[in-house]
Amino acid sequence: MSVNSEAAAPGSGGDQHDALDTQDAHGVETSAHAQNPLAPGLPEHRLRRTDIDPRAAKRAERQVSLLFAIGALTPIIFFIGYVYIPNDKLILIPLIGTTSASNLFLGLTMGLGLFCIGAGAIHWAKKLMPDVEEVAERHQIRGTDAERDLAVAQFNAGVESSGFGQYKLIRRTLIGALAATPLFAVPLLKDLGPMPATLLRYTIWAKGVRIVTDVSLAPIKPEDIPFGGLVSCVPANLAAVEKATGTLNARAKVPVVLVRLRPEEIRSQQGKNWDYQGILCYSKICTHVGCPTALYDQKSHHLLCPCHQSTFDLADSGHVVFGPAARSMPQLAITVDAEGYLVAQGDFTQPVGPSFWERG
Ligand code: FES
Repeated sequence: MSVNSEAAAPGSGGDQHDALDTQDAHGVETSAHAQNPLAPGLPEHRLRRTDIDPRAAKRAERQVSLLFAIGALTPIIFFIGYVYIPNDKLILIPLIGTTSASNLFLGLTMGLGLFCIGAGAIHWAKKLMPDVEEVAERHQIRGTDAERDLAVAQFNAGVESSGFGQYKLIRRTLIGALAATPLFAVPLLKDLGPMPATLLRYTIWAKGVRIVTDVSLAPIKPEDIPFGGLVSCVPANLAAVEKATGTLNARAKVPVVLVRLRPEEIRSQQGKNWDYQGILCYSKICTHVGCPTALYDQKSHHLLCPCHQSTFDLADSGHVVFGPAARSMPQLAITVDAEGYLVAQGDFTQPVGPSFWERG
């Protein structure tokens, strides 16, 4: 094991090592300094080829520079792709399927750029920065002023010995790569718009749309809802809308819960005759920040949101009785159709879900 206290500069040929230096089977020098009693058992220190061969050091410098240069170029290519590849252009990737050309291009260029910067930094550290082994003495958390001054001096020496000033090509390409990297954030700005306008104001609930159980999509008759029970439901037209749009966007707004109370237990509703024989229908999406709510206490008729404990009294217009939600849970007016299945009387009369100022 060897403990060296100074950096081995590339091309120095291990000058700082004493006469105990030897060569291994590959001709690479190894140092066989005296055993360190404080850290016995560590493998013998080996000088890297870049420590003893100036050509190897130069080659490593070029490799690192190439990686940083790629890191500098990819944000520019990324930006060009962001501008010129249409958002709606799809391409077929074998084994993966159809995907957005823009997303794929942006992801690949960003991934390549970040990878090259990271790989360049690692390669630099492993091949060119000083390779020394030192014993780290335990010490109090705050050093003395002298120690702190020494640390600063050592840091500055480290900066100098890292070659940041010496390897101009590496320094410039690294600065170029780091300067260009913020371009990766440009697409984030795109996600700030457009404003949702009235998109969040309406759902696909409409007059006569049947209320069906979530997952199994079975239509429901009033007698299917037990007193004190709660059933999670969606509109019957949800599957068709999802198929037509190819997205799950509609699903975010439509989940509802059905609960059955005795008519005399209902203290108030958000509209006249919005229940059907004591069956009430409320949005399932919490008006705080949008968690699905389905914890129901049949005695108090309270609906509890598991996220931050907002509690809504379903027997009293869905008013908030506890928690951070600022709005009542929106109620959906229901009735039955000619076949006796529960249906909506129309859409919600207020937006469901969280209350954003930019709701439009
Ligand atoms: Fe329901 Fe916060 S999301 S209380």
